Amino acid sequence: MTKAVRYRQFGGPEVLELQEIPEPHAAPDEVRVRVTAAGLNPMDWQITTQPDMAARFGITLPAGFGSDFAGVVDELGAEATGFAIGDRVYGAAIGRSVADFVLVNAAHLWPTPEGISDEVAATLPVSGLTASAALAAIGLRTGDTVLIGGAAGGVGIFAVQLAKLAGARVLGTASERTFAFLRGLGAEPVAYGPGLADRVRALAPEGITAAADLFGREAAETALKLGVAPERISVVADGPAPPPGVRKTGALDAGPGTLERIADAIHSGEITVPIAATFPVEQIREAVMTQAGRHVHGKIVVAL
Ligand SMILES: NC(=O)c1ccc[n+]([C@@H]2O[C@H](COP(=O)([O-])OP(=O)(O)OC[C@H]3O[C@@H](n4cnc5c(N)ncnc54)[C@H](OP(=O)(O)O)[C@@H]3O)[C@@H](O)[C@H]2O)c1
Repeated sequence: MTKAVRYRQFGGPEVLELQEIPEPHAAPDEVRVRVTAAGLNPMDWQITTQPDMAARFGITLPAGFGSDFAGVVDELGAEATGFAIGDRVYGAAIGRSVADFVLVNAAHLWPTPEGISDEVAATLPVSGLTASAALAAIGLRTGDTVLIGGAAGGVGIFAVQLAKLAGARVLGTASERTFAFLRGLGAEPVAYGPGLADRVRALAPEGITAAADLFGREAAETALKLGVAPERISVVADGPAPPPGVRKTGALDAGPGTLERIADAIHSGEITVPIAATFPVEQIREAVMTQAGRHVHGKIVVAL
């Protein structure tokens, strides 16, 4: 028997159970990964609490939990190619990553570069792809001054550092207790909430040229108010329709090679991945409660 986090009814962290399940085996086109770390994202607990969102991802009850993972290939289907037993890999398997084993098609796996821990690799797919897509959607370039909303969260840590690497000046929204953390990533912090436009104007009197809103709609609406063209503004969170012309984007829009580029930048020290906390899988409910609190700096990881 092996362990997997599963749930039988929709609800909050209390529905999550660490269950013993029969050991799964790879189908002919699948790779089995012995998971050692699973990074959490808002979509994980949004799926367990929102049946309509679960349906969008084809998830029915009883269900598994989590999306991002890293570990080691330990079984190969007869037709699976591209990986060998013992390879370190990471990837995304929506609704089933927090388990001893995941079965995935090789197309959804990436090799974990030497020097990058499983803990860090397990944070990359959903957040890294989304951050990259949010910046690509607005054509971020050298010389831009970009406002990033929700800059200290799982997506924000990648977006801030990718924007700096692209040569932009980065203003990032956060609460005041998060300012030092954001400065450490290279962003100039600005408090979210009423009066944001005035605070942005004070920080950048010459104006901002682009915005990526990673939390809701406040940063996007502020950028519009400050005269940024709608096509230079993106949002990623579900919610009300974005203002006309503003781009809604997400992980699935990221271009090929995105994760490889981010992994290279981590390897070379140009990007760091702050891990706010790592929880043993037995504490899955505490891990999810922490993530769902929406005040995490960086990523939450579950160790298996
Ligand atoms: N479309 C896609 O493919 C896709 C993929 C990934 C994520 N998303 C969505 O993107 C959003 C961000 O994900 P994430 O992983 O970065 O979330 P997260 O890690 O939970 O974000 C936490 C951060 O949000 C900040 N925050 C809290 N309240 C805020 C507010 N009112 N305004 C601005 N920032 C606030 C917090 O800063 P303080 O601690 O300082 O308050 C904290 O650092 C989520 O809605 C998620 O569902 C979409």
